Amino acid sequence: MLERKKIGEILSKYKKFKIATICSHSSLQIFKGAREEGIKTIGIVQKDKRKLYESFPLGRPDEFIEVDDYRDIPIDYLVDEEAIVIPHGSFVEYVGAAFDDLAVPVYGNRASLMWERSRDKMFQWLTKAGIKTPRIMKPEEIDGPVMVKFPGAKGGRGYVVVSSEDEFRKRVKEKEYMIQEFLIGVRAYPHYFFSPFPGHGYKTKQGELELLGVDRRVESSADEIARAVSLGMDPKMAFTVIGNEPLVLRESLLSEYMEIGRTISETSFDLFGGLIGPFCVETIITEELQIYAFEISARIVAGTNVYPEGSPYSVYYYKEPMSAGRRIAKELKRAAKMKKLSQIVY
Ligand SMILES: Nc1ncnc2c1ncn2[C@@H]1O[C@H](COP(=O)(O)OP(=O)(O)O)[C@@H](O)[C@H]1O
Ligand SMILES: [Mg+2]
Repeated sequence: MLERKKIGEILSKYKKFKIATICSHSSLQIFKGAREEGIKTIGIVQKDKRKLYESFPLGRPDEFIEVDDYRDIPIDYLVDEEAIVIPHGSFVEYVGAAFDDLAVPVYGNRASLMWERSRDKMFQWLTKAGIKTPRIMKPEEIDGPVMVKFPGAKGGRGYVVVSSEDEFRKRVKEKEYMIQEFLIGVRAYPHYFFSPFPGHGYKTKQGELELLGVDRRVESSADEIARAVSLGMDPKMAFTVIGNEPLVLRESLLSEYMEIGRTISETSFDLFGGLIGPFCVETIITEELQIYAFEISARIVAGTNVYPEGSPYSVYYYKEPMSAGRRIAKELKRAAKMKKLSQIVY
């Protein structure tokens, strides 16, 4: 992993800064938010997608850099332009492990994405934070519906549900997998934002936490499967993410959700120096109101796209419409003003 010192040196030469990211995932919201905070933006785009991004006057970046392959991030140009990169889900997926050594300033702590990439590490993190997780099993322990997951964030693609060891042996040929108990309940994906600078929010040992929204993913075929079942069909359940829907939690659940955010945040400081900025925890709430978590996204999540003008939670912190994208821009602006960018950029 690139040394923090190296990024500090690059940052110390920045006079102003721009915000850059790959045109995908939550980029429209990131560009819009930066525009609202008066920060210039750079969109890294594949030729065939440029037309689309150009068509949104308020969501487009101020400037495009065309690339053939997202693995060829034009590092030197970004540094010359004084860019700070905002990593999002597609960014992490396209750039892969090369992300760790990108010699360009990245918003947040780049070490946190290493913890997101490894499912074992992520479960270690959740467990250390004292959060309930689905039971993890070996093939011979399968005693009911389980979810078999493979490495990498692929938007739920390719995961399978099996009910016995036999079925597992028949359907799973991959070598690397994680078997989780299949949880029944309502999914809720809270969007947190951690700031080490004093302001407002739910107090943690190292700073403050805002809840900027909650969403739920809409997945194919899982979320429409009742139709097929009602017709007597026996379809395989799959989890390819198609989009997101807003969700408001019953207010009595908020306290537990803020505690989940707090312990994940505090644990991140013990494990790797702290998660900075936006993150999300994927949870399932059972009918007994037990909350289980099965994934942490250590960066902005696509679910925040349902709130480009703020959410039913952001209104309790901000009078102005506050998306996660805008919140990031605001944080960077504030840190730059205090000359503390190196505290939240690595
Ligand atoms: N243990 C589980 N029990 C029930 N459903 C699950 C479980 N884990 C994941 N899912 C479902 O599968 C989807 C994709 O899982 P996830 O691990 O978040 O994949 P990805 O890494 O692609 O985000 C979730 O959004 C949820 O609907
Ligand atoms: Mg997920």
